Amino acid sequence: MESALEQEPRKLKGLLLAGGKGTRLRPFTYTGAKQLVALANRPILFHAIDQLTTCGITELGIVVGETKEEVMAAVGDGSQFGAKITFIEQSAPLGIAHAVKIAEDFIGSDPFVLFLGDNILKEGIGRYVEQFQTGCHNGLVLLYPVDEPQNFGVAELDGDKLIRVVEKPRDPPSNMAVIGIYFFDSTVFDAIRRVKPSARGELEITDTIQRLIDDGLDVRAEVISGRWIDTGKHDDLLEANHLLLEDLEPELAGRHDDASTIQGRVVLQEGSEVINSRIQGPVIIGERTRVVNSFIGPFTSINHDCLIADTEISGSVVLEHTTIEQVDGRIEHSLIGRNVELRGHQRRPHGYELILGDFSKLRTP
Ligand code: TTP
Repeated sequence: MESALEQEPRKLKGLLLAGGKGTRLRPFTYTGAKQLVALANRPILFHAIDQLTTCGITELGIVVGETKEEVMAAVGDGSQFGAKITFIEQSAPLGIAHAVKIAEDFIGSDPFVLFLGDNILKEGIGRYVEQFQTGCHNGLVLLYPVDEPQNFGVAELDGDKLIRVVEKPRDPPSNMAVIGIYFFDSTVFDAIRRVKPSARGELEITDTIQRLIDDGLDVRAEVISGRWIDTGKHDDLLEANHLLLEDLEPELAGRHDDASTIQGRVVLQEGSEVINSRIQGPVIIGERTRVVNSFIGPFTSINHDCLIADTEISGSVVLEHTTIEQVDGRIEHSLIGRNVELRGHQRRPHGYELILGDFSKLRTP
């Protein structure tokens, strides 16, 4: 018989953050939102939305900033995710806790998951969603063991209770970094009202969590089992692309000729074409992209409407509408943006004729 005390699980809303400055990801963030950079040919933000909808969290708020038009156009009304989406405009990137504060009308009195729109997780968050829904704690933070806790917000624990969070500590109390996925109930809004901007002028989420703890509220912590990547820097994007391609489900919706070899887990998206080439998965080739006389090596994502001809490329991400032709030597571990033209030739002498935007990099490994 059911206990009279047994309660209905709390229904959670989702709050995704897709504002911010993205300074560390220049030059990509000069022309677009960092959360829309496609890894495994799907915007990072969409991977985050998928994480919530697969747990049945479909009432989502997305905080948008300077790049709001682009984010809103890509996400739409949420029907492509089976979600109902409300956009919340942040006038300036005044901190993660500030983004939560301005979402108070959307959240109301419901508990919610806060998900930073540039975090990639290998495993799902279903376990923690269930734990927060059925428990009665006020907050739950997720932790990930890191090698250099000095560079993170670090947790001090007493069992599964969080007792302190320290931002970039010189003398870390543990190696457990607080990651960008948090669970709160509406007590968080009262805490934010009492948090002061930090030295960098932002309302910090770590100060907010500390406020909750100091108020005597029940904040728990769980160490996640799978990999976590905060895609703040260029190398993180390549690593996250690698992580996502590890789980690639092969699908050949595009066309390849008899002279081509397709090995391992490969996705050829609708309208793509592979001619006289070798594709060694895991690899994803985007819609309407043509690969001609080329080698595409493991852990590479080539996005839509690209042309790769007479070129070898491996372990890389190529964004939309880019052409790479006759490049001498293999392109490896590279991030190539949208509408880029890389045209070499295979005759001597070799030389370079470059138009590279600010913060671009060209180097030999
Ligand atoms: P951060 O990576 O901390 O900040 P940022 O995006 O401004 O990047 P950088 O440090 O390279 O300049 O932000 C984490 C996530 O939260 C990211 O998806 C952006 C989002 N965010 C907001 O939406 N509003 C904010 O005020 C801040 C600070 C971040």
